[in-house]
Amino acid sequence: KAEALRFDGQVAIVTGAGGGLGRAYALMLANLGASVVVNDLGGSHTGQGQDSKAADVVVEEIRKAGGKAVANYDSVEDGDKVVETALKAFGRVDILVNNAGILRDKSFARMTDQDWDLVHRVHLRGTYKVIKAAWPHFLKQKYGRIINTASAVGLYGNFGQTNYSAAKLGIVGLTKTLALEGKKNNIICNVIAPNAGTRMTATVMPPEMVEAFKPEYVAPLIGYLAHQNTAESGSIFEVGSGWIAKVRWQRTGGVGFPANKPLYPEQIAANWAKIVDFEDGRATNPNSTQEAFQSFMENFGNVAEEAPTAEEKKSEGGLD
Ligand code: NAI
Repeated sequence: KAEALRFDGQVAIVTGAGGGLGRAYALMLANLGASVVVNDLGGSHTGQGQDSKAADVVVEEIRKAGGKAVANYDSVEDGDKVVETALKAFGRVDILVNNAGILRDKSFARMTDQDWDLVHRVHLRGTYKVIKAAWPHFLKQKYGRIINTASAVGLYGNFGQTNYSAAKLGIVGLTKTLALEGKKNNIICNVIAPNAGTRMTATVMPPEMVEAFKPEYVAPLIGYLAHQNTAESGSIFEVGSGWIAKVRWQRTGGVGFPANKPLYPEQIAANWAKIVDFEDGRATNPNSTQEAFQSFMENFGNVAEEAPTAEEKKSEGGLD
């Protein structure tokens, strides 16, 4: 068996750690030597109410097992208070797992502004606020490990979850840009799309699936990504039931039209099969905005030989 990845002397914040996935992360990190801030507002899965019990129970569990933990009951929307708890109790913060979340599922036609805003406030703004408060400390110590939580629903969409999927994909963009900004100070940032049987999914998963999709099968990836040896950053992982995979973008080889001639919708139509063809051996997996932009730059050199006709000159508006 390989040597255990340990976190002795390090401080971890896990948001929404009073139950489900967050609880499993907090227990694992504490078991591996980290001092843990167990944050949880303790409301319902739709974001109503609050209760200090959720976080307290997990802190108690950790302490009973001989680990170090303190509770924090603030909403992640007050990220500075969450980070303040880590500094007060343990004097530093090394690891931040943004996991807290709620659902307000409704078909788009029935979605209210409140359903939209609350989900965005907890997921996207909450993730932003806790990172924002931890970031100056990460910069100062030239060290930080951030794991954010997206969802397959953010990556692929799902009926009834426009609010949630938009917020979750927002977290992916936040992660990718932070990975770039943190790089030279050894701040590493990744995002996971988990699958687990929790109170959040118990209403949609059959009981045997809830049993098979244990949060304990997701936690080890958090352990890997939170460790000082990890170099991986800016990446998306799907994880659950003991299965783990990395996700990346793929782009077709595309079609470049002459850059010195007007372009018309019918040309798009005539080339559609090629524009959407992932199987012609020309598809790529751009890994940065610069790399993605390269194809546009290259097309500037794509100049048709013959001068434009008088007719083409007249309708240059077609280029927009
Ligand atoms: P859960 O409902 O069991 O746990 C979420 C925890 O976050 C709860 O304990 C809740 O009290 C807490 N919380 C909610 N709002 C909060 C706030 N404003 N401030 C602090 N704490 C707050 O749900 P689960 O399944 O463990 O989900 C964890 C994360 O994983 C969420 O971000 C969720 O969207 C995501 N996820 C889970 C999936 C699954 O299959 N369970 C699928 C895809 C994503």
